[in-house]
Amino acid sequence: MEPYLEDEEGAGRIHYRKTFRRLAALLAPRWRPVAVAFLFLVVASLASLAGPVVLRHAIDVDLASKSVRGLLTTLAVFFLVNSASVVFTYFLRVRLETLGQDILLELKKSLFAHLLSLGLDYFDRTPVGRITARVESDTGALRGLFAETAVLIFRDVGMFFGMFAVMASVHPGLTLVMASLLPPVAVASVLFVRKSAAPFLAVRKLTAELSGYLTERLQGMAVVQAFNRQEDSCGRLAGLSRRKFEAEFRAESLAVYFFVSVLTLEPVAISLVLGLGGKWALQGSVTVGTLVMFILYVDQLFAPIFHLTEHLGTIQRSFAAGQRIFDLLDTACTVTDPPAPRYLSRVEHGVEFRGVSLRYAPDAPWALREVSFAVPKGSRAALVGETGGGKTSIVSLLFKFYLPQEGDILIDGVSVSQMTQANVRRLMGLVQQDIYLFPGTVMDNLKLMDRSVPDDRVRDAIRALGLEAICRRIDLDRTVIERGANLSVGEKQVLSLVRAMVLDPAILVLDEATSSVDPHTERTIQAAMERLLEDRTSVVIAHRLSTVRHADRILVVRQGRVAESGSHAELLRKGGAYSKLYKLQFSGS
Ligand SMILES: Nc1ncnc2c1ncn2[C@@H]1O[C@H](COP(=O)(O)OP(=O)(O)OP(=O)(O)O)[C@@H](O)[C@H]1O
Ligand SMILES: [Mg+2]
Repeated sequence: MEPYLEDEEGAGRIHYRKTFRRLAALLAPRWRPVAVAFLFLVVASLASLAGPVVLRHAIDVDLASKSVRGLLTTLAVFFLVNSASVVFTYFLRVRLETLGQDILLELKKSLFAHLLSLGLDYFDRTPVGRITARVESDTGALRGLFAETAVLIFRDVGMFFGMFAVMASVHPGLTLVMASLLPPVAVASVLFVRKSAAPFLAVRKLTAELSGYLTERLQGMAVVQAFNRQEDSCGRLAGLSRRKFEAEFRAESLAVYFFVSVLTLEPVAISLVLGLGGKWALQGSVTVGTLVMFILYVDQLFAPIFHLTEHLGTIQRSFAAGQRIFDLLDTACTVTDPPAPRYLSRVEHGVEFRGVSLRYAPDAPWALREVSFAVPKGSRAALVGETGGGKTSIVSLLFKFYLPQEGDILIDGVSVSQMTQANVRRLMGLVQQDIYLFPGTVMDNLKLMDRSVPDDRVRDAIRALGLEAICRRIDLDRTVIERGANLSVGEKQVLSLVRAMVLDPAILVLDEATSSVDPHTERTIQAAMERLLEDRTSVVIAHRLSTVRHADRILVVRQGRVAESGSHAELLRKGGAYSKLYKLQFSGS
């Protein structure tokens, strides 16, 4: 499907027809509550339409015939009719609000589910705040559409034509006088819709930008403060806010212009009715009751027109938001599951890279080029090499975070492209350079938020790794704040090892931490890591000499290629890239 927006954040165009179809599809399965709402709407509208007619009867019939009983009866009917209008309007609003919230909930759920299925490349190119804005504020902008406009617009259109019908049946001449005011209203409406589309789109876009900017600065608070960027940060926020305010102001002032220009027509309408109608009344062709009824309708007639402006505003706002939401929902997953996947419950033979080439974007340079190597079951491959060489990229491919443009990654001879993402990742365990911790206790994090994992499994893992002492110091019941900011780097390294051990994966992928910790902790971590890696199929991005030396096979990755491979001893004997790297990087340790 072609995207809604020409560029990522959209040019100033709303695709009404296309967006309408998608929005209507959200309402269609909820036809029952919609039908009930329409029922309430019809009753409430008929009741308010009847009010002026009943009053006309009171003046022209009851007062003229001097019947007190008749007057009292008519007033009782008037009271009943108005009460019915109020009560049914209340039911209608409650029903609509429920409907709106229900749709928003569904949209948010499907947006988040879709986000969770998107490949990491999407998150590489889309700032977090922009995504948050789509899930929160764009869906919020649709509330007005479903909870008000979608149904109420029928009330307002219906009331409008209903009033004209009643008026025409009572006095066609006066009705024609009223109708003469409609062309200017129509022109004003068309102008309003035309002019306000761009500012409404701009508001949505700037809302996303603001939220993106805010998230980014809040996440980098330490850097902002350390480099004294507070003032500059404030300035940029103020600049964005001002632009948003200006766009919003443009949109809203257009609505006000429209409102005011229609408003000036109201006294004109009343004057016309009283002037011409009054003259006819003096001539005897119009009754006083009819005049009163027309004047009451003038007032009621403008209410639907104003509502219609609000509806038009809501439609523009929510269609702008809607097409951004659908655009995200239509973002294709670059990494998908095959229709008939092969399932592997365990690993019998090992992993193999066969002529793998990867680029992160069609116009980006190759990050990996014809990479081939094998990691037989139970053996350890160590990836070493210069920064930016492609080590992390190799690991990302193993997890099927990205798909290679050429070549294949095989687990027990089965290509990962033939397996589901869930299956591939169930076989893998990841120990990251810097572990991401979620809010909760340390224990929760070690279980990866899976409550079905017993505490004992975590304690066994800690014991097996020989990390009891340090874990006691960390305190497993301690509450972790966002991103684990209240834990030290070394502590997080320890937790990351324990987490992998709890998971006990068939293949372990370890991106060894580069940041150093004190010598004592370093020894503890190193020992724990050796225990974790023992007899396990593993791919390690190694920075420590010991990890490299114990590897069965070392791969030197340079500029996206495997420049050299072999055991530590073989590679040293060869005197190539590895031996140079070894002398530079490891000889000191
Ligand atoms: N998500 C990404 N999007 C675009 N380019 C990327 C991405 N990740 C890495 N690259 C590029 O791909 C190349 C290989 O990066 P990679 O992270 O694999 O290197 P590395 O060997 O892990 O480096 P280091 O030792 O510094 O961690 C680099 O040129 C990098 O700029
Ligand atoms: Mg890396």
